[in-house]
Amino acid sequence: MYLALHVFLLLTSILLSLFALSLSLTFFFGPPFVFTPKKIIKQMLSFTSVKKNDTIIDLGSGDGRILLESVPYCKKAIGYEINFFLVAWSNILIKTKGLSEKAHVKCMNYNDASLREGTIVFLYNLPSRLPQLEKKLRKELRPGTKIVSYKFKLSAFTLARKTKSGIYLYIV
Ligand SMILES: C[S@@+](CC[C@H](N)C(=O)[O-])C[C@H]1O[C@@H](n2cnc3c(N)ncnc32)[C@H](O)[C@@H]1O
Repeated sequence: MYLALHVFLLLTSILLSLFALSLSLTFFFGPPFVFTPKKIIKQMLSFTSVKKNDTIIDLGSGDGRILLESVPYCKKAIGYEINFFLVAWSNILIKTKGLSEKAHVKCMNYNDASLREGTIVFLYNLPSRLPQLEKKLRKELRPGTKIVSYKFKLSAFTLARKTKSGIYLYIV
């Protein structure tokens, strides 16, 4: 009994340490996990006039909240997330809510993802990372694709609309 408890506590602390380590690594090497408030996500969705035939991509999808909120209104929602724990957590949420047909999070660097099928792309990224990402968006996104950046402005696209709450909308 005591042995089982010790093993359980040991495994839990290893998992928690790995989770903390993965969060600190993304803090140093990319945008850290800071989530977008649900109220803002709702504003983003009405701002983009999301439609049933839209494919949504979230670059650095965190805990998958943008995908989960978007999925009732779109055809497909794809997230790219580098933190394995956040990927696992989002995919558990997606599965338990019965949304696996329409939503999925891939554990990969968004720089290696193909963005061509996206019709609405969300990003919440560090300003220092934006120029490189903007080059990729410019190269891969099709005309008419909407880009929603939270908190930070893009420089390679013309701003279509913005809100006081920090939502910036661009149309390729
Ligand atoms: C600011 S959070 C945004 C989370 C979510 N999109 C939201 O708005 O609630 C940025 C996320 O990007 C992830 N990330 C950082 N660099 C990445 C990369 N190169 N490829 C994929 N995900 C990355 C981080 O792990 C973090 O979860």
